Amino acid sequence: MNIYSALLLFTIGVYCESIIPSIDLSENGISPEPRTNPTMVVDPVGNVIYLFGGRSKCCFLNDLWSFDLNRLIWKIIYSQSDLPGKGYLEPRSHSGSYFRSKTKEFCIYSGWSDVYNFSDLWCLSTLTYDWNKIDYPFLEIKLSFKIQYLEYNENEYLISLPVENIKEVSVYVFNIISQEIKAIDFNKSKIIKNHRDYEFLKVVENKIVYGELQEDGEDYKKVYYCDVETLLCEIKSFHVLKKIKLDEIVEVVENV
Ligand SMILES: *[C@@H]1O[C@H](CO)[C@@H](O)[C@H](O)[C@H]1NC(C)=O
Ligand SMILES: *[C@@H]1O[C@H](CO)[C@@H](O)[C@H](O)[C@H]1NC(C)=O
Repeated sequence: MNIYSALLLFTIGVYCESIIPSIDLSENGISPEPRTNPTMVVDPVGNVIYLFGGRSKCCFLNDLWSFDLNRLIWKIIYSQSDLPGKGYLEPRSHSGSYFRSKTKEFCIYSGWSDVYNFSDLWCLSTLTYDWNKIDYPFLEIKLSFKIQYLEYNENEYLISLPVENIKEVSVYVFNIISQEIKAIDFNKSKIIKNHRDYEFLKVVENKIVYGELQEDGEDYKKVYYCDVETLLCEIKSFHVLKKIKLDEIVEVVENV
């Protein structure tokens, strides 16, 4: 494993498709092997990027790394999760993730491998390096979700959109602090696919943003814009010229 591949991974992971000039890491050392679709999250206070799993040339991975943004150094983290009785975090790619700044946890959910489509949620304490499987009540229903995490007004929310095997479109808003769960019913039926962005769930400030980008020939797309506390939704329609990227739509909504 050389520096070049570490850099390449870093560049692709953080900046996706844009081409940016790269810099050499100042110190040599170990770094993650090249891979696709790992899970990455930034701890903005600690200036650290965490990276988990993905798929290498050979297989699905469940290794865990941190990258110090100040010192530009990779570190492998051996967590406690391999110990007996701790549960086992299976190798996977395409997991979702979020960082809980209050508890300093790096959390990942779902993802897939050759063997499974996962619908579990795990959080790593970045203080003790211990993975814990989280069993929130709403996760007990064994469904797949798109999940977004939101910190707002001392509260923390997990916002989930069930996918694949449910027909009523609803978004569940789970308050992690009070453990209360509420639903927004969108009054429509359809099957939402997990691994595509035609139906998307995002958060922008204190708003839950749900929309559909299907290529159904319509020129106007509806985007729901719901307050995380009151759950009241505004609908915004906007013109879409042929294909538009999800990032652009969320940006449009953000600028309204
Ligand atoms: C995972 O889900 C997809 C559909 O979303 C399906 O095509 C695939 O076979 C599933 N994989 C496994 C291992 O169950
Ligand atoms: C769905 O319908 C109910 C009852 O008519 C309404 O109160 C609710 O606001 C609708 N949901 C959305 C997201 O518009």
